[in-house]
Amino acid sequence: MTQITVELGEHSYPILVQPGALELAATHLQRFASNRRLFILTDVNVESHLLPKLRKAFAGSGIDLIVKSLPAGEVSKSWRQLEMVTDWLLAQGVERSDTLMALGGGVIGDLTGFAAAIVKRGCGFVQIPTSLLAQVDSSVGGKTAINSSVGKNLIGTFNQPRFVLIDPLVLSSLPDKELRAGYAEVIKYGLINDENFFAWCEENGSKLLDHDPDALSEAIIHSVRAKALIVGEDEKELSGRRALLNLGHTFGHALEAETGFSDRLVHGEAVAAGMALAFGYSARRGHCDAAEAERVKAHLKSVNLPYNLATASVRASGQQLVGHMMHDKKMSGGSLPFLLAKGIGQSFLAQDVDLNDVATFLDQSD
Ligand code: GLY
Repeated sequence: MTQITVELGEHSYPILVQPGALELAATHLQRFASNRRLFILTDVNVESHLLPKLRKAFAGSGIDLIVKSLPAGEVSKSWRQLEMVTDWLLAQGVERSDTLMALGGGVIGDLTGFAAAIVKRGCGFVQIPTSLLAQVDSSVGGKTAINSSVGKNLIGTFNQPRFVLIDPLVLSSLPDKELRAGYAEVIKYGLINDENFFAWCEENGSKLLDHDPDALSEAIIHSVRAKALIVGEDEKELSGRRALLNLGHTFGHALEAETGFSDRLVHGEAVAAGMALAFGYSARRGHCDAAEAERVKAHLKSVNLPYNLATASVRASGQQLVGHMMHDKKMSGGSLPFLLAKGIGQSFLAQDVDLNDVATFLDQSD
């Protein structure tokens, strides 16, 4: 069992990583059931796989689990579902002393965190992430949001959970595509500021994707530690430190937008291609050696993740993709800060990127 703390003063909270933690959920989480009840939000897929295990864990605890199951996928990060969830909570008589629990991937975590922030002006929430992506990224750090018709995650707030319970064993039922997509966010921590961890990924990535439990636990613990540290330094992405976690995301979001935010290219896959493009563009600008960019591509290729426009199945022009980037939340005064790199483990925020140059790079990239 490993416990990591996100240090945020009075909003600090623990993240527990423990194989088999779901079976011990009642022990870990009973203190949040102040009214002898917990409100669980989940989706229909997770409900069938994992809710029975959670119910079993709480059997005999005297704690009532009140469950709402939502449609699976991005469609649930909408005003409609948020309204439905908050109406349901109010109809159930939710009080500010109650705790909501997100049992699911990033979509459920983001929606639950946002609902917890606004219902009765705020009640507590706990994350039980069930996808690799949610375990290593979205369940930690308090970013919550729904999507708008203009773009993804544009309506939301920072709201830190009170506890994150991570059970790597729940990933055994995760489809390969989802596991691989989550692994892209694991690689990201190496590329941001930890070359040794990237080398670990090169050595252990295939094992991890074969569901090796030790490799999975090691990657999760390492990633959560790295993210907790960054969030503790820059909770609300004000100093530029937390922005490092967006490596690959500006290119990635453009690819996601181009493919309609669909299962054709899920978020982690888009981030994988986005990181390769960020390194390729860094090499074009002379920030890093072309060999470093090639090393990034080679690893992504070796684990069957997209590493360029073609492998991401995107055929758009550079200007079309840059058009999507203009809707990015980070746009400020008409320019867009970009995460670039001086090498593996040496990412930095560049403020002077010319979007026309990015478009030319995208047209010329292979
Ligand atoms: N996923 C990026 C962040 O949490 O800041």
